[in-house]
Amino acid sequence: MKLLNKEKLKKIIHYGPLLFIIAITTTVLLVLFIINIFEKQQEAKYYQYKIHPIAPLEDDPKLWALDFPHQYDDYMKTVDQIRTRYGGSEALPHTPSKADPRQVVAQSKLEEDPRLKKMWAGYAFSKDFREERGHAYMLQDQLYTGRQAVPQPGSCLQCHSSIYKAMMVIGEGDVHKGFETLNKMPYKDAVKNVEHPVSCLDCHEPSTMTLRVTRPAFIDGIRDYKEHNGIKNYDVNKMATRLEMRTFVCAQCHVEYYFKGHDKQLTFPWKKGLKADEILSYYEENKHKDWIHEITGAPVIKAQHPEFEMWSQGIHGRSGVSCVDCHMPYKRVGATKISDHHIRSPLLNINRACQTCHNIPENELIERVEQIQGRHTEMRNTTINALMDLIDAIADAQKKKMAENKIKKAQNFQRQAQFLIDFAEAENSAGFHAPQEAARIMVKSIDFSRQGLKALK
Ligand code: HEC
Ligand code: HEC
Ligand code: HEC
Ligand code: HEC
Ligand code: HEC
Repeated sequence: MKLLNKEKLKKIIHYGPLLFIIAITTTVLLVLFIINIFEKQQEAKYYQYKIHPIAPLEDDPKLWALDFPHQYDDYMKTVDQIRTRYGGSEALPHTPSKADPRQVVAQSKLEEDPRLKKMWAGYAFSKDFREERGHAYMLQDQLYTGRQAVPQPGSCLQCHSSIYKAMMVIGEGDVHKGFETLNKMPYKDAVKNVEHPVSCLDCHEPSTMTLRVTRPAFIDGIRDYKEHNGIKNYDVNKMATRLEMRTFVCAQCHVEYYFKGHDKQLTFPWKKGLKADEILSYYEENKHKDWIHEITGAPVIKAQHPEFEMWSQGIHGRSGVSCVDCHMPYKRVGATKISDHHIRSPLLNINRACQTCHNIPENELIERVEQIQGRHTEMRNTTINALMDLIDAIADAQKKKMAENKIKKAQNFQRQAQFLIDFAEAENSAGFHAPQEAARIMVKSIDFSRQGLKALK
């Protein structure tokens, strides 16, 4: 017994330091683990931090900032103007006047590419069309664009202001009713009902802070699209997953649209699908036109910012990577992880926007993006040239008094070619969101221009 005890003692002396280290390490790990749990609990409690109850229709972001100062600070940073190779925006000094008090404006896309004026001849877009800039400017840029020379409807405000409150007040609690009333008002009257650019209220339910869709045009549009895919009575705010909401909140505005009928109801043309040619076939069926082309007399359509539609055709959309993953990536503030409300080009923020998923050096990632965008721009230029040739040829045929049926046929090809190239051009990622789909659309556009020229033979 004695002998054994001595042995034990020796062992203890021998292993003592090791045991001590193990004990310390275990304690440290345990403490770290407990701290981690505590942090997680704090994060979970985040939403209960609200000390200042937010009114259900509070559209002033300053009052939300009392509880969420970090999100507010980032949101306010959308005033920045930094140009990337194919995106971002450049701040050009502007002489303020009473009629247009803006201090800076973004670069003109019409000056960069005068062919666009010919593409949109006779339409307000041929007067003023600029690079888009941050959310902070959306209301003033709409108020003072040269396109206001043509009277615009109230429906314009749906995507350029925090309009949820106005819809609810005017519709007496019925958002669709308020939407319809505001849409058909002249812009100059409707604008008196809004004060802020897109704000917290438009994407968040104030009592829980969960994401929600507030725009009737999207609620109806996505229902039409789901129905096309065999899902009936889709209610986005009840049925969408959190992941889908991280794209849908942006798709309230970053989509192709048109104003339906005399009441100028804002409508998303998704009954036949989200692809450019499916949208075109929807317009072919309802014979919608935005204007009559000034040079050729063709009834034409303008495509606008189809970011959501194009994203849905790309590899990131397919893989479930949302708009928010790249444009509002997570960032750490102290112990909490927040979403970066400084919405901008992800190329200004590769580290958080891309490298969380891609273990690739920053300059290599930028080169990959710019390679896609460079090829896209080359294809875009070729496609626009083909359309320019068709427009010239139709004008020439009209001068030469060619048979009316031939001209009609060519005008119809112009309408189709023009919509498809415009769709690829108006999409603001310069091809990145879905490179191959953009290429497919442009090839189709070139083919329509070719058929148009053939029709005039
Ligand atoms: C995988 C990352 C990724 C996803 C997902 C993504 N984007 Fe982008 N987006 C980009 C990149 C990269 C650009 C190009 C930016 C540039 O050229 O500076 C871009 C450009 C844009 C631009 C033009 C920005 C500018 O500064 O000119 C808009 C607007 C935009 N995206 C909106 C969206 C919307 C809306 C969605 C979801 C429907 C979306 N994006 C999904 C990466 C992404
Ligand atoms: C469905 C949402 C939506 C509607 C409706 C809408 N816009 Fe926009 N608008 C956007 C988005 C998204 C951008 C930024 C992307 C871009 O410029 O392509 C934008 C950008 C702009 C810009 C800045 C860039 C430029 O084109 O010079 C102006 C000005 C503008 N819109 C005016 C208008 C006017 C006028 C109307 C009404 C005829 C209108 N918008 C209706 C979503 C919309
Ligand atoms: C209420 C409509 C609306 C919503 C919702 C909206 N946007 Fe925008 N977005 C716009 C308009 C309008 C502009 C252009 C403003 C201008 O040029 O004055 C714009 C501009 C942008 C730009 C260009 C910024 C720059 O600095 O060049 C990006 C990127 C962008 N939005 C991404 C998003 C993402 C991502 C979401 C969702 C989290 C989103 N937007 C939600 C209307 C909206
Ligand atoms: C264009 C839509 C949009 C607007 C406008 C917006 N947010 Fe968010 N916000 C989001 C998205 C998307 C998330 C990520 C939510 C998720 O993934 O569940 C988010 C998350 C949050 C969260 C949860 C914590 C976090 O950061 O992820 C808070 C708090 C928040 N936003 C506050 C605000 C405040 C305050 C404003 C106004 C100053 C605001 N948001 C404006 C889209 C928006
Ligand atoms: C949430 C994860 C995630 C984020 C964030 C993300 N990506 Fe991706 N990316 C993917 C996935 C998934 C694929 C599909 C290929 C694969 O499975 O590896 C992909 C593919 C790509 C490809 C190949 C495209 C092609 O057509 O084959 C490029 C280029 C790319 N990403 C660049 C970027 C850039 C630039 C950013 C930031 C603006 C970014 N990604 C952000 C997950 C992500």
